[in-house]
Amino acid sequence: MNSKTNNSVQFYDYHPAPEDLCSEILDGLSNKQKTISPKFFYDEKGSHIFDSICELPEYYLTRTESTILEENADEIAEQISEACVLIEPGSGSSKKVRILLDTIKPSVYIPLEISRSHLKSSAERLSEDYPWLEVHAACVDFTTSNVLPYSHPDRQKIAFFPGSTIGNFEPEMAIDLLKNIASMVGSGGGLLIGVDLKKDEFILTAAYNDSSGVTAAFNYNLLERLNKDLDANFKLDEFDHHASYNKTYGRMESHLVSRCKQTVAINSHLFEFSEGESIHTENSYKYSIDEFQTLASQAGFSNKKTWTDKNELFSVHYLVCV
Ligand code: AVJ
Repeated sequence: MNSKTNNSVQFYDYHPAPEDLCSEILDGLSNKQKTISPKFFYDEKGSHIFDSICELPEYYLTRTESTILEENADEIAEQISEACVLIEPGSGSSKKVRILLDTIKPSVYIPLEISRSHLKSSAERLSEDYPWLEVHAACVDFTTSNVLPYSHPDRQKIAFFPGSTIGNFEPEMAIDLLKNIASMVGSGGGLLIGVDLKKDEFILTAAYNDSSGVTAAFNYNLLERLNKDLDANFKLDEFDHHASYNKTYGRMESHLVSRCKQTVAINSHLFEFSEGESIHTENSYKYSIDEFQTLASQAGFSNKKTWTDKNELFSVHYLVCV
């Protein structure tokens, strides 16, 4: 690990092992149900497309969560100790946390992010805008590591995990992830988390099948990325974007469906597709408030308070680690 000071931002590089794109992709495409993990959506172009998704009229999640945070910032702050240490696993561009900083007034902010360049620029911008805030930015894979670059024994640690990112994980994995977060904040620490709610299927399907085709482009970008980074030869127009609600599992599923019988080569490995066969690219689990609280309790969190919007589309929970 090394650290250096820059604009009052302290950087820590835990040198997370780079994801092995090739072997993970080949493994996933060798399964009976071909799969690609949604974490591979987020190359530079994919991250950009995701930002556009967040602006779509059909994609209610981002805007609804931001409104909940804005409208309840004072109540949220009441739950949390003054001068806490605020930790954001997967902080990305550190945009949503800005809604809370002026009311929560943490003394320290710790963004944890695997993308080094993204982390550096975002942490620096944040630190310029909030000169009173001490920022310790750590380049780390928070799903596999629970190290924190900074600790203060007298201060409450709070994790901020917005965006319903938790929905991308199978429930069992989600519990493990929450356990990891619990060990970061420790007993008495808190978790402020955004979780998308179960709702009318029509609203859900529209959110993942927007009329301008941005979500489809997000899904196709996976294939483009494999063509670029792994020398694959996917023909994008031979696949359809397909997103539907799986009621049994309570999740939105995204697939890329082959329009015909075809063979695709990746790095000299051949993959056969029959007509209608799909690559499963994402699950986005939806939870009722009770379901989420039960899940979180299995990771050692007890519910303190939940906020929703008036249409009950999205929820923000504050929980404490027991
Ligand atoms: C960032 C994982 C919460 O599942 O809604 C948006 C990603 N996929 N549109 C989600 C996504 C398609 C998003 N998460």
